Amino acid sequence: MTSRCILQTALLVYFCTTVLAMNYDLLQFQLSSSSVECQELLLQLNGTSKGCLKDRMNFKIPEEIKKSQQFQKEDIIWITLEMFGKTSDIFRRNLSSTGWNETIVEDLLATLHRQKEHLEGIMEEGNFTWDHRTLLHLKRYYLRIVQYLKAKKYSTCAWTIVQAEILRGFFFLDKLTGYLLN
Ligand SMILES: *[C@@H]1O[C@H](CO)[C@@H](O)[C@H](O)[C@H]1NC(C)=O
Ligand SMILES: *[C@@H]1O[C@H](CO)[C@@H](O)[C@H](O)[C@H]1NC(C)=O
Ligand SMILES: *[C@@H]1O[C@H](CO)[C@@H](O)[C@H](O)[C@H]1NC(C)=O
Ligand SMILES: *[C@@H]1O[C@H](CO)[C@@H](O)[C@H](O)[C@H]1NC(C)=O
Repeated sequence: MTSRCILQTALLVYFCTTVLAMNYDLLQFQLSSSSVECQELLLQLNGTSKGCLKDRMNFKIPEEIKKSQQFQKEDIIWITLEMFGKTSDIFRRNLSSTGWNETIVEDLLATLHRQKEHLEGIMEEGNFTWDHRTLLHLKRYYLRIVQYLKAKKYSTCAWTIVQAEILRGFFFLDKLTGYLLN
């Protein structure tokens, strides 16, 4: 590598780090606002958990998420992106048994989509590549949710259980994105 090349790389790294460093507080604010918005929308989707106890399931959310292990800030962005993306995929599935208000579901999907695009933009700008086991654990976790819904034929109870699980995910995510501050 020529020294000019090294300098350019150093400048690029510096540039990306600075740009992101300046925006982390704002990003945390945006993420926690949309998380609150999603949680409020999810809570408006009424359901009765009565009679659904038999359908309870341990989806085994990855331990590192549950324990809100301290990640690098870039890693938190990846995790958030994955969680928003997969949550949105799940709520695009067959909701016909739930009788949930479609406007509320649409609002939820729109909020998730907006943040997902925003985060993707940030990742592109910073050109991050992240090959982390947590991402794999998350993919498997959401796959378990999807398989459960399929096995339960998208019943009202199954959706109620999943709704609660997704809310729980947002709770853990809020703790994680808190690390974007400081
Ligand atoms: C949800 O609420 C709507 C209107 O309030 C009602 O028509 C529907 O039956 C409720 N669904 C469930 C699953 O409780
Ligand atoms: C959606 O789920 C309901 C049961 O909850 C089922 O009757 C219906 O066939 C499903 N529709 C599709 C397109 O899979
Ligand atoms: C669905 O929710 C929207 C927004 O909260 C509300 O304006 C609308 O009346 C609801 N529709 C039904 C059928 O409950
Ligand atoms: C991002 O980084 C990878 C490897 O570090 C490189 O191959 C790729 O061209 C970069 N992409 C952009 C858009 O800069």
